[in-house]
Amino acid sequence: MVLVNSHYQKLQAGYLFPEIQRRIKAFAADHPDADLIRLGIGDVTEPLPPACREAMETALAAMGTAEGFHGYGPEQGYPWLREAIAHHDYQQRGCAIEADEIFISDGSKCDTSNILDILGPGNRIAVTDPVYPVYVDSNVMAGHTGPADEQGRYGGLQYLPLTADNHFSAPLPSTPVDLIYLCFPNNPTGVVATGAELQRWVDYARSHKALILFDGAYEAFIRDPELPHSIFEIDGAQECSIEFRSFSKNAGFTGTRCAFTVVPKALTGQSHGGESVSLWNLWSRRQSTKFNGVGYVVQRGAEAVYSPAGQKQVAQLVDFYMENAALICQQLRSLGLTVYGGQHAPYVWVKTPDGVSSWQFFDQLLRGAHVVSTPGSGFGFAGEGYIRLSAFNSRARVEGAMARIAQSGVQ
Ligand code: MLT
Repeated sequence: MVLVNSHYQKLQAGYLFPEIQRRIKAFAADHPDADLIRLGIGDVTEPLPPACREAMETALAAMGTAEGFHGYGPEQGYPWLREAIAHHDYQQRGCAIEADEIFISDGSKCDTSNILDILGPGNRIAVTDPVYPVYVDSNVMAGHTGPADEQGRYGGLQYLPLTADNHFSAPLPSTPVDLIYLCFPNNPTGVVATGAELQRWVDYARSHKALILFDGAYEAFIRDPELPHSIFEIDGAQECSIEFRSFSKNAGFTGTRCAFTVVPKALTGQSHGGESVSLWNLWSRRQSTKFNGVGYVVQRGAEAVYSPAGQKQVAQLVDFYMENAALICQQLRSLGLTVYGGQHAPYVWVKTPDGVSSWQFFDQLLRGAHVVSTPGSGFGFAGEGYIRLSAFNSRARVEGAMARIAQSGVQ
């Protein structure tokens, strides 16, 4: 009989978003005429920027010719895309990141999970609470945790609460850790970290020889020019951080699939024998073995994000979603609800009315307003008492959702 990875049996229920889908499906089966407005999963709704689409069309046409055909590309990504990213996203912001430190992939979700391939067992790990569930579940699957307790917290992980009391700024670990997951602008709370806050983390990581896994998938939504977009804008970060970035949310590539991970050459870990090992070498080796790169056509589309037209169109797209976020915040506040986030992120973190749990409020919005949200408790124990609303939808749907919530009498 084949043996399974029994660490999977420690996982709590379903992965959050399929679980929400399951509940929506059950609701829709009972209410076939309900026109649901989905502000749950952070999936974009607006068409691809024309510059990206046109670049992909041109690339696709080239693929139909003998001269323009491309077979396997470099596993780490085409140099022209890596160079465009290094220049625009890093060097122009004063970060000394080189093109060969950028690894193109098909998604940050995959990379934040796959990175565990190059990290050994036995690392002491810190995650925020609430947290993007992928970081936790991947560690459970890899056998890096014990079972979950009655609050759903896994043994062996240190949970750093993000609460209204600490202004959603995670406290430093109370006992030393080796691996720290940070996501700013934050999913799910929608809050952003200042340079000083990130410096505190980098200083901690350097003094504890820890590694920061920094998820910057939402950096494009930062409005304040003083705020850092990358962990590499922080002094010393290249010695202690890996950054994950994506074209999903800024350029609408959730269905197109293109992202990248930045692994500085200066980064090292330690072998069991105490030898210093380059993480760049390990990740490059991992990608060459297990990954065949992102399609040529898609990488050409991603490259177009950095063209003058692409930059303008992406900025318009981001502005559009951020206007939705502002609308959600303003409308919910006018109903007397307490909301956080939504200023530098496409997520709004809404306090549930007194005595109403996350799933109860999710159900109230679903049944009373036909609006889909994400229950905060799905992101961790400290997310109880909140729901998350996503600003990714058309203006008409967002306005419709707000009007329905107001009419449903929620307060
Ligand atoms: C979310 O809703 O949290 C996002 O869709 C997560 C993701 O991008 O995978």
